[in-house]
Amino acid sequence: MEIKKVGVVGCGLMGGGIAQVCAESGYETVAREINDELLNKGISAIQANWKKAVAKGRMTEEDQAAAQGRLKGTTNMNDFEGCDLVIEAVIELMDLKKEVFTELDNITPPHAILATNTSCLSIIEMASFTKRPEQVMGIHFFNPVPVMKLVEVVETISTSQETMETGRKFSESLGKQVVTAKDSPGFIVNLLLIPFLLDAIRAYEKGLATKEDIDAGVKLGLNHPMGPLTLTDLVGLDTTYHIACAMYEETADSKYAPPVLLKQMVTAGWYGRKSGKGFYDY
Ligand code: CAA
Repeated sequence: MEIKKVGVVGCGLMGGGIAQVCAESGYETVAREINDELLNKGISAIQANWKKAVAKGRMTEEDQAAAQGRLKGTTNMNDFEGCDLVIEAVIELMDLKKEVFTELDNITPPHAILATNTSCLSIIEMASFTKRPEQVMGIHFFNPVPVMKLVEVVETISTSQETMETGRKFSESLGKQVVTAKDSPGFIVNLLLIPFLLDAIRAYEKGLATKEDIDAGVKLGLNHPMGPLTLTDLVGLDTTYHIACAMYEETADSKYAPPVLLKQMVTAGWYGRKSGKGFYDY
């Protein structure tokens, strides 16, 4: 199946990045947010990235204009009509995913693939809200989407091989390297990343070291691009918390239990970079 028109549900940190790379890669792209304020914020962030890319000589003005022309922002789910692929990137709450997948199943053409960018929730559960479970899969991007090379393509017990192949080829067409994973909590990367981030937060919570030294230890001792507390600020404390809760609920394994401090910071509205305050101030 040839993909020409792509829909992205959600134009936040992840959805915005996904819409950006789709439009850059030649796809007619529709990005949807729930209101004009969030939509304008998301589209402005994409435009700022393109402006920076042109200023740095990584993109020509013609390519920017063409990408811009392919991107349409909307607050109306009906604008996903005619999409060959829709990628859902709303917050990690199954009730919300249920609404989105039910609507997408009614709006999009029968051949369309419905994908989720979820980091941790059950994809087969999302598929169960549709009448096309064989065309539901995970296409999981990493933050910041325009920079990170990896995409996890995820198959449920119902996903057809044709759907997986189309999802893999599509992800590669965005310039990404693809790994394939089963629909199990955390797939490959978060299975390993989330306990690591939570352990770093627990070490800080217990006062074992300063946040700066925890980050410097990992950055310099393991050659990571950033330390785990800085990375949690980048991923979002709210997102990290939702992922940890979902993985803990699914596995009952205490290594995924969110530390009390993380819950407190999320309750206080300290979401990391996106809110201006997390482990560090921005
Ligand atoms: N959007 C677009 N481009 C961005 C960007 C963003 N949000 N952030 C940085 N960049 C670009 C910069 O413009 C810059 O481009 P040029 O080289 O052309 O100038 C390039 O990335 C490098 O940025 P910086 O020089 O500002 O900083 P850096 O070298 O420290 O790199 C980083 C920044 C790419 C974020 C790097 O620190 C890094 O790779 N960190 C780890 C990120 C990571 O692990 N992400 C995965 C999180 S887990 C996840 O996403 C999955 C999940 O489900 C939770």
